[in-house]
Amino acid sequence: TIYKASTTAPVNIAVVKYWGKRDPKLNLPTNSSLSVTLSQADLRTLTTATCSATYQGEDSLILNDEPSDIKGARTQACLRELRARRAALEAENSSLPKLSTMPLRIVSENNFPTAAGLASSAAGFAALVRAIANLYELPSSPTELSLIARQGSGSACRSLFGGYVAWRGGEQADGLDSKAVEVAPASHWPNMRALILVVSAAKKGVSSTSGMQQTVATSDLFQGRIATVVPAHMDKMEAAIRDRDFPAFAEVTMKDSNSFHACCMDTYPPIYYMNDVSRAAVRAVEAINAAAGKTIAAYTFDAGPNAVIYYLEENSGPVVGTFYSLLQGTDGWKDGAKSYDSAAVK
Ligand code: DP6
Repeated sequence: TIYKASTTAPVNIAVVKYWGKRDPKLNLPTNSSLSVTLSQADLRTLTTATCSATYQGEDSLILNDEPSDIKGARTQACLRELRARRAALEAENSSLPKLSTMPLRIVSENNFPTAAGLASSAAGFAALVRAIANLYELPSSPTELSLIARQGSGSACRSLFGGYVAWRGGEQADGLDSKAVEVAPASHWPNMRALILVVSAAKKGVSSTSGMQQTVATSDLFQGRIATVVPAHMDKMEAAIRDRDFPAFAEVTMKDSNSFHACCMDTYPPIYYMNDVSRAAVRAVEAINAAAGKTIAAYTFDAGPNAVIYYLEENSGPVVGTFYSLLQGTDGWKDGAKSYDSAAVK
């Protein structure tokens, strides 16, 4: 017998950023964060997990058709947790097949090119954890699975839900209160959209994992970010989502991205993720909002130069239509740059 389960998980883009670990081993964050999940029709990871007593050898992982490392500490932490939960079920009920003792074969693929330069670890670990949880028939809620996915990659814990998702950073040393919760379902604010401008598909210079640890160790500005800036942004963002207040949502999104990148620049030595084209995208959003006489677009940048522009569907004309024409004159802007226009929440 070959036991099998498949699942998909969406990409999420944070509007209040996770940046900093208080415990790198358990992957516990210095602060809470909040993200919007992108439509799975556009961006998702599909993962199939199988296991069988007839499989020879060790666990294996194939990522976008290439054999991939399954031995990494992060992946191993997830597999260990899932196997332990399955083993507990098997111990309670001896008629269950002993899946926990069988080698696992995991096959995972993204429906967007790796060259898109989008972080895929969030969707990747979320799909991996849920596929195996389904295979093992674990009675786990998305929040419970988020505790496991977090150990694969912090941002992954937010990809177990659709819609608007908070990762409550938690305070406990064991990390049991560091998990994702749904702030609002996608249907609450369904006209939210994301335009992703791929400035560069190149692999980022400083990985998030290492960059955030350098920031924690050396940035003074960062202390203020986690003590006061992020808690205020979390409160304002949750209220903005509750009230479907786009100008408030946009202001917090842009300020939080700016605060995060300021902390990167305040890291010693400094980390620069945004480049000239990123900065031109900021100016383009400002020009779009000025022309509209109100805030109809918001930018945010992760650990790389690519821009994500949030806007409401009814404003796609002035936002998407204007955005590229404003960037055309920018040095370093390539006509070949790709973009993904995604229903942010569906
Ligand atoms: C800038 O989740 O990739 O995208 O936990 O070390 O795997 P690890 O980090 P990761 O960091 C994401 C950082 C960010 C902000 C965010 O998604 O909140």
